Amino acid sequence: MFKQLAIAAATSLALSGGAVLAAGGEGHIEDFDFSFEGPFGTYDQNQLQRGLKIYTEVCAGCHGLKQVPLRTLSSEDGLGLPEDQMRAYAETYEVFDAELDDYRPARPTDHFPANTGVGAPDLSLMAKARAGFHGPYGTGINQFLKGIGGPEYIASLLLGYTGEEKTEAGVTLYENTAFPGGWISMAPPLYGEDVDFDDGHDNDLHHEAMDVAAFLMWAAEPKMMARKEAGFTAVLFLTVLSVLLYVTNKRIWAPLKGKKTP
Ligand code: HEC
Repeated sequence: MFKQLAIAAATSLALSGGAVLAAGGEGHIEDFDFSFEGPFGTYDQNQLQRGLKIYTEVCAGCHGLKQVPLRTLSSEDGLGLPEDQMRAYAETYEVFDAELDDYRPARPTDHFPANTGVGAPDLSLMAKARAGFHGPYGTGINQFLKGIGGPEYIASLLLGYTGEEKTEAGVTLYENTAFPGGWISMAPPLYGEDVDFDDGHDNDLHHEAMDVAAFLMWAAEPKMMARKEAGFTAVLFLTVLSVLLYVTNKRIWAPLKGKKTP
């Protein structure tokens, strides 16, 4: 009986696994090492600043970051831009002011502009909206081991173009090994050496993809460091509390535990 059940379970697992594979929906996601991974990982300020530059010079042509307030560019656990640089950056954008009934340069309290490109999604929360790792077979074990994989998905997407194109119903699609379904309507935005960094940092395609992915992770979760710190403090606190409770418990019962019942 048990054997039959086991065989039935194994076959159904194999069959459903086969179905998932046959559907071919999942793209290929590479596992990158980001500085902010792990319980003590932190954002790399320089990397985030490079990512901002790539976002501004390339991605912002089509995408928006409408949920992100410009003043957060100065926050210490993020990009840490000096106040005057942040203000100067904000002023490069124009926003419509309903009170003035006119456009004016953006202020630190304004948000990044929304997307203007047709069909290009807002990127504010993209790094958390996409999961790079699933499986095996939707069990989520890979997510547990490697993280949700949002920034990995973005970097893999930027690196995943094969160079093949096709036109479907008047829309040009580009083959991409990371995009679910394999064909995306975004033309390859990065080729390498798209931006120059003042400190001469590497600007090959691989580095650019990682830098802008890290920046988008920060945009989606600017308080990641604070969250990790709070989690660590909580674990430490609970550990100390457990030890104290254990010792207290021993003490309270010591007079009774020691006695032999007559
Ligand atoms: C020429 C316009 C254009 C530029 C420039 C551009 N994108 Fe896109 N992007 C699009 C469009 C259009 C889509 C929607 C593609 C689709 O769903 O087929 C998209 C989709 C995306 C997605 C979502 C993919 C998904 O899973 O749905 C990400 C992430 C992305 N772009 C990142 C970037 C980054 C990072 C840059 C800058 C390095 C960039 N894009 C530059 C037009 C652009």
